Amino acid sequence: MDGVTRFYDRTGEFVAVLLGTAWQALAPALTDALDGLDPAAGPVVDAGAGTGLGTRVIGDALPDAEILAVEPDRALRTALLARVAADPDLCARVTVLDTDLLGAPLPERIGGLVAMNVIGHFSPGDRATLWASLAQRLAPEGRAVLNLYPPTRPERVPATPMSQVQLGRRRYSGSAAAEPAGDDAVTWEMSYRLEEDGQVLTEFSARDHWHVFTPEQLAGELAPHGLRVTSGDAAQGIQVITR
Ligand SMILES: C[S@@+](CC[C@H](N)C(=O)[O-])C[C@H]1O[C@@H](n2cnc3c(N)ncnc32)[C@H](O)[C@@H]1O
Repeated sequence: MDGVTRFYDRTGEFVAVLLGTAWQALAPALTDALDGLDPAAGPVVDAGAGTGLGTRVIGDALPDAEILAVEPDRALRTALLARVAADPDLCARVTVLDTDLLGAPLPERIGGLVAMNVIGHFSPGDRATLWASLAQRLAPEGRAVLNLYPPTRPERVPATPMSQVQLGRRRYSGSAAAEPAGDDAVTWEMSYRLEEDGQVLTEFSARDHWHVFTPEQLAGELAPHGLRVTSGDAAQGIQVITR
């Protein structure tokens, strides 16, 4: 967790601004994946909630559900708390947990779990612990939703622009590149730039260790726990886990 926390402490402001672009397509895909989930089955866990972009989507998709938003990084959690506190509907339904997912005091029964843009932070051992916990807690008709995005194998990704966002006089932009890092991971190198009137104010890169796996590997990991996975929105890499 230390490396992850350091990564987000360094990049948090850019994550807060730039990840919203990805959510323009993720939001409808997650909404579809949550369709019909029974809010009475138990709380929905937003694992690694970040600034709460997904928490808001879960809240809109399931207007009667209780949400447990788990976010270990203090900088991102502050943005999450501000988002929740500013919205009376979220205030009434969202509990923010300041811990990592595997250490979170989750209830015995949960109705769902959402892990968007998160699962690569979990090693194969962490995932095994997570699937065991999910198998124990997930309501019979419950659902977990996560996304897998390329690469799903340890492959090189050339530097690719992510998004750019203009806030007042300043423009935030970022690009991402990946290199293989062993048998089951890549190192993402994220490069961020802040400009004002065409002048660069800040520019830096940060590296993040990211575990990669295919939907087929996921199915193989889940099966011993009595869980199965089906594909949701393919363009968004949505995976829906049920009993
Ligand atoms: C790329 S951000 C995605 C945030 C949010 N889910 C979204 O899509 O807007 C990844 C998030 O996972 C969180 N994270 C990393 N490791 C975690 C762990 N072990 N338990 C819970 N959250 C974790 C990070 O702190 C960060 O907020």
